[in-house]
Order: sequence, then C-alpha cells, then structure tokens
Amino acid sequence: MSFIHLQNLTKTYSNAGSPAVNHIDLSIEKGEIITLLGPSGCGKTTTLRMIAGFEQPSNGSIRIDDKVVFDDRSYLPPEKRGIGMVFQDYALFPHLTIEKNVTFGLNKWGTLNKKKRAKEVLELVGLADYAKRFPNELSGGQQQRVALARALAPRPHVVLMDEPFSNLDAGLRERMRYDVTAILRKANTTAIIVTHDQKDAFAVSDRVVVMNQGVIQQIASPRDMYRCPKNCFVAQFVGKTNLLTGTLCEDMKHVETHIGRVCLPSVSNQILEDVRVSIRPEGCRLVEDGRYSGRVERVTYSGEYQELEVRLGDDHVTNEPMIVYAPVEQEIEVGSVVSFDIKPELVALVEA
Ligand SMILES: Nc1ncnc2c1ncn2[C@@H]1O[C@H](COP(=O)(O)OP(=O)(O)OP(=O)(O)O)[C@@H](O)[C@H]1O
Ligand SMILES: [Mg+2]
Repeated sequence: MSFIHLQNLTKTYSNAGSPAVNHIDLSIEKGEIITLLGPSGCGKTTTLRMIAGFEQPSNGSIRIDDKVVFDDRSYLPPEKRGIGMVFQDYALFPHLTIEKNVTFGLNKWGTLNKKKRAKEVLELVGLADYAKRFPNELSGGQQQRVALARALAPRPHVVLMDEPFSNLDAGLRERMRYDVTAILRKANTTAIIVTHDQKDAFAVSDRVVVMNQGVIQQIASPRDMYRCPKNCFVAQFVGKTNLLTGTLCEDMKHVETHIGRVCLPSVSNQILEDVRVSIRPEGCRLVEDGRYSGRVERVTYSGEYQELEVRLGDDHVTNEPMIVYAPVEQEIEVGSVVSFDIKPELVALVEA
C-alpha cells in the first residue's frame, strides 16, 4: 500500500466557478521525492495545502501512513498529520536564533532533547556552527536550509515544500537543488515539492506530476516524462518541442507530416488519422545529406548550443518553422540551407 494516497481530491473555492483542483488521484511511496509541476494557477499550492490540512477539500480523501486524515467523515488538524512544511518565503522568526527557530515545533520535548535534536538537524543541513545566529545573519541558501531543518526537526512523515528555490539566484538555485535532495534522502523523508520550473522538478524528483487547470496531466519519472510526454501540453511544458500534425502510416511506425515521414521510436497501437507528433529540438541532428532540409530563418546563441528556426521545403507560412539545436562550434548563417536527421528516440506520438 502506498504511503500517501490522494483519491478523487477536489477543491472548489466558494467564490470561483471551476475547481482549483479537479478530481486528482495520486499515490506516493515512502521515501519518494515527488514534484508538482505546472503553470501559475494550476492548483499546486492548493493541493499542498489540502495535504497539510490548511485547506479543506470539497471532495475526496487523503490518507497518510495508514491514517485517513481527510474524507467525508474525518478531518485531522494540521498539527496531527505529521507534516513538516517549508514555505516559499521560509517564514523564519527574525527575533529567534537559528537554534530556537529549528526547535520551535518541539514544544513537548524536554530542553535537553530539543538541544540534541537541533544539533542533529543543523548538522544534517550543514549549519551546525550557526546555531546562535539570527536569520538576518544568514544568506538566502542558508536560510532555506534552516527552514528545511525546522521542518525536519519533529521527524515528520512527510515534508511539503512550496516553491523552495524561487527566492534564490541561478547559481545558488542549482546548488540548493542538489543539497535539498541530498538532505531529504539522508533523512529518508517522503517529500512533495511544488514548483513551476521544469529544471527544478527534473533535478530533484523521483517522479514528476504535471498539472494543468487543476487536473493531473501525467505522472512519470523525469526521463519518461521528457521522452514520452502524454499530450501536447506536457510536451510543451517540459522542455521545448516541435509539435506536428500528421497521419499514421500503415506500418504504424511512421507518421506522414508536412516535413515528410517521421519515424517513431516504436510501433504505435493507435489508429488515428489526425495524430500529433512531438520532436525534441536536440533529436534533430545536423548532417550532410540528411533526410530533411530547410532554410535557416533565425539563429539564437545560448552558449551551450545554438537554436535554429528552420523552414522546411516549400512551406512558407502554413506551419511553424522547426526548432533544431546545433553545436556552437558550427558557423550557421541566417538564410543558409541546413540538412538534418531526426533521432526516433526523441520523437513521441502525443494526444492533442
Ligand atoms: N483562497 C482562495 N480563494 C479563491 N481562489 C483561490 C484561493 N487560493 C487560490 N485560488 C485560485 O485557485 C487556483 C489555483 O491556485 P493555486 O494557488 O493552487 O495555484 P498554483 O499552481 O500554486 O499557482 P502559482 O504557481 O502561481 O503559485 C487559482 O485560480 C487561484 O486564483
Ligand atoms: Mg503556488
């Protein structure tokens, strides 16, 4: 049996027409790190707040570690759910030392035990020497680790984190992705992290849950999500992609599109006329005499690669140009003709 189970969970705010969270089902294993990923307003925070107990669901049930914490007959208050929460702004108490911040939720513990636990969790987050400082004497990344230490101190069943990386600059953000994952793994804690950033989600999680308009679109490991997005929304939300319409060929392994035949990674079991195919830009490899060729309309240099917009064949206006990534060392001029092949592993048939 899964460790956390959300069933048919729905929330409609009293002043809103459509549900903020719409019949979601999600099972999470013990020790798993899950991210809820989706655009602004898709219901991530609402989901997290319902799990924490700060928001009353309109429908459905929530079970944590064999205990029903919410259904139509029961409601367990937040403090009894065994949950540690890290808020987006960390919400540290400015007038308390780091040690006192960390032990704040341990009011039933004796003084000695509190001190011991503070030492343990501050060591876990690499801040053992900062116990006597105040929050304003720490950097953003350090404050975030204090917030995590405070959430972990009462040994919760699960840690919930809402946009934990959004206040950090790019370099620190990358570092903290690594640190937070390592700390959670070491503490062997189940965690649900909310983010709207695909890179955060891919870097920290075992599985990613993509949401849109209150509905779960796909649940998968980062690799499977990227390679086999279920629908157009997921394909576009996790990384860049080219979405083409076409017709599945009789061999069920190729799709006829406006750029020509595109090979799928495996035989499809769908029989559809009007199919959508997602082709990742890095799946297009520039080669001499490639199967596809077109004129370069735009080159954007990113440092790691060049993003080309390529107009194929005699298609002047009807379709979007293809996005193709090219190595930076290759000189490519706007107006030149390039040719490329497409790696089937980075092609996927997706739902509309
Ligand atoms: N207290 C509230 N009362 C009414 N509507 C709300 C309330 N809180 C959130 N909503 C609405 O519910 C929807 C989902 O909001 P939620 O905060 O869960 O989104 P989110 O995915 O966390 O977005 P963001 O990435 O911007 O934080 C939005 O349309 C929002 O306006
Ligand atoms: Mg939010």
